[in-house]
Amino acid sequence: MKEIISGFSKKSKEEKAQWLAQTFASDPEKALALFKTYTHPNPEIQEIHDEFIENTLANYYLPFAIAPNFLIDQKVYAIPMVIEESSVVAAASKAAKFWLDKGGFHTEIVGTEKVGHVHLNYFGEPKQLFAFFDAHREAFMQGLKPLSASMEKRGGGIKSLELVDKTAALDGYYHIALTFETKDAMGANFINSCLEQLAQDFRLKAQEAFKADEAPEVVMSILSNYVPNCVVRAWVRCPIEQLGYEGVEGAEFAAKFCRAVAIAQAEPYRAVTHNKGIMNGIDAVVIASGNDFRAVEAGVHAYASRDGQYRSLTKAEITPDQELHFELEIPLALGTVGGLTALHPMVKLALDLLDHPSAEDLMKITAVAGLAQNFGAVSSLVTTGIQKGHMKMHLLNLLNAEGASASEKETLTAHFKDKTVSSAAVKEALSQLRQ
Ligand code: MEV
Repeated sequence: MKEIISGFSKKSKEEKAQWLAQTFASDPEKALALFKTYTHPNPEIQEIHDEFIENTLANYYLPFAIAPNFLIDQKVYAIPMVIEESSVVAAASKAAKFWLDKGGFHTEIVGTEKVGHVHLNYFGEPKQLFAFFDAHREAFMQGLKPLSASMEKRGGGIKSLELVDKTAALDGYYHIALTFETKDAMGANFINSCLEQLAQDFRLKAQEAFKADEAPEVVMSILSNYVPNCVVRAWVRCPIEQLGYEGVEGAEFAAKFCRAVAIAQAEPYRAVTHNKGIMNGIDAVVIASGNDFRAVEAGVHAYASRDGQYRSLTKAEITPDQELHFELEIPLALGTVGGLTALHPMVKLALDLLDHPSAEDLMKITAVAGLAQNFGAVSSLVTTGIQKGHMKMHLLNLLNAEGASASEKETLTAHFKDKTVSSAAVKEALSQLRQ
């Protein structure tokens, strides 16, 4: 079968591209030309991208944009966002402007603790395992010192080491839970190295202390992306008479807004979409700042279900003194040193534009982007509906998909200023224009 290849990763980039184009592309010439177009002309820059992953053939561009005018804890930011969805940056910028003269955004770090586990099988007497663990706890900690020394110098390190009986959840299952402070690093490599070292020390000591067929067994060692103690809060607050959105006045707007957020608290179908809107802002900053959006996504949605039901990550209320208080609480394990932050030129620029934030600063900025996004989405939903703004922003995509020229785009953007945008309407207007 020509579709199966061995030793692929050892081939040169050109050989890989040739093989792929000849074997799988419907138009090999076109595929090869595209790989070329999406390769950076500066070989040094291209090499950085090639080496992020294996089997790189070209680059995949997403827009790098800026949402300006964010007042966060009295400091103004222009927030870098990397995202493909047309209305996201516009909505963030609009929300930033909206809150600019209402005190801006406020934030607070609730915690920065990361966590990882050595997962164990053990079917013997629990007391014996706990006695063994207690007797060696100090030695286990000492065994991690060479790895944690430099993190300790930066004020971080291992905060706790605990054996936990999980047999109520799964027969014979225990784990050693470690908590970490990783300062400005996201810390995945540090955490995983510590866990693997601990697993090795644990195995050796267990071999000495237990009979071969009774010894606890290490199943695996890995950090957790569930970080319920690495959490940031962001909020906005202002008297309801200062509110008003798309012609809906203060008190009415505040009531509709709070009701929409309450629905997302109560109903998982709505909560998922509500939180997706929050993640539009969060992911865009997480990607721009070179962080791991899959880790963030996994942890955020687990946090949204922490009481057993999936709920909104934001809360809104009208306070007794008639203010709207709107708040996001979200777990964000982010880093501003190490990983991609030291490698990707655009990530370095994004962090420079944010004034070289600490990991805590970046948690705050990112949470604000999520809160702003949610404010924009919910405000539109309870007033004009989402499609008006969304389709306006999407108009250029629709025109590009139809191959519109620059002058056609200009004419039709003006034409749709006061009309409803839809795929059919755009096709019709373009064909009229062309006749
Ligand atoms: C679209 O990307 C996001 C929204 O669906 C979010 C929401 O419904 O709150 C508009």
